[in-house]
Amino acid sequence: MDVYIWIVTLCVSFASIETLSCKREGKCKISRIHSMKAADCHGKDMTQFTQCLGKDIEVVDLSFNRIRKLAKEDLTKYSNLKILYLNDNSIAAIDKQAFEGSDYLQTLDLSLNSLTKIPPVLFQLPSLQSLYLGQNLNMNIVDVVEKAKPIKSPLFHLDISYVMTEEPGELPDLGFMPTLEKYNISGNKLISMTTKHFAGLCSLKFLDTTNVSIEYEEDGCGCWTINRWLISRKVNFKPFVCHRKEAECLQDVPIDDFKVYEKCIGELKEELRKSKMKTILLIVVPIGAAVILAIVAYFFVRRRRKLKKKQKADPTQEIMLNNAVKKA
Ligand SMILES: *[C@@H]1O[C@H](CO)[C@@H](O)[C@H](O)[C@H]1NC(C)=O
Ligand SMILES: *[C@@H]1O[C@H](CO)[C@@H](O)[C@H](O)[C@H]1NC(C)=O
Repeated sequence: MDVYIWIVTLCVSFASIETLSCKREGKCKISRIHSMKAADCHGKDMTQFTQCLGKDIEVVDLSFNRIRKLAKEDLTKYSNLKILYLNDNSIAAIDKQAFEGSDYLQTLDLSLNSLTKIPPVLFQLPSLQSLYLGQNLNMNIVDVVEKAKPIKSPLFHLDISYVMTEEPGELPDLGFMPTLEKYNISGNKLISMTTKHFAGLCSLKFLDTTNVSIEYEEDGCGCWTINRWLISRKVNFKPFVCHRKEAECLQDVPIDDFKVYEKCIGELKEELRKSKMKTILLIVVPIGAAVILAIVAYFFVRRRRKLKKKQKADPTQEIMLNNAVKKA
């Protein structure tokens, strides 16, 4: 009995500690955005990921706070999260498992933090479409991507602006990303770019190259090949400023890059075919079922009418039928 009371007291005091700390933390404003339940916790001087929101929250704006770390259990409670803004904090570390189970997360903004790496699981989240990593001034993005490959998230928009600002680095080799349409690489110091870095991005429509500087290690012709590659694929971008003359750089694109590009296009077509099939099935199956039902109903009604007519013509049949019905 004593133990029981002790446990209850402990639970109650834990609960009150939590409500107390939630009171002290200051309330986030709850509202609805596009029919999603949203919490505005912008600029609340928070040092940790708040645990004071409801489990059903879908949009959380924690931008402009003082969060330093994302721990494993910080997001566990919020499994319905679709949009999360953590930009403009001081996050320097994210636990490897912190985003495991964030299956509905579509947008994640981690820009303006102090991250040097992020957990590979971010590139595997099944719903993630927009990932902002910009202005983490010294992120080793090449290493991050290499550890995360192959990328499975259906990313549509990737922002890696201003992540290589001190030491010049290479662009990450993203591999196949048939879904990527917007790519922000602005403000980076780059070395040795080649078409390899864009070959698997066959849906790319917009590339932000503002303030990209290139320090050439190689012959520097890659710069022209990339410009030509992107222009011929109708990507909207500001061409890279190349230090050599174009006439000196008429090399062809490596055949392997074409192969990667073709494979990406193939994957895209396959996805399109699949989604078409799905739509067709979604439309055809119910219509087909309705038609069959209507036909069956029609024949059923017709048979009953015929039977009734017969009964009127032949009264013995009616007696027999009535008997049969009674037996049943
Ligand atoms: C790319 O990133 C820079 C810096 O983070 C930002 O100012 C710019 O608006 C971004 N471009 C796009 C198209 O979002
Ligand atoms: C590009 O760099 C220049 C000089 O460092 C800076 O003044 C300008 O604001 C930058 N532009 C953008 C869009 O970041």
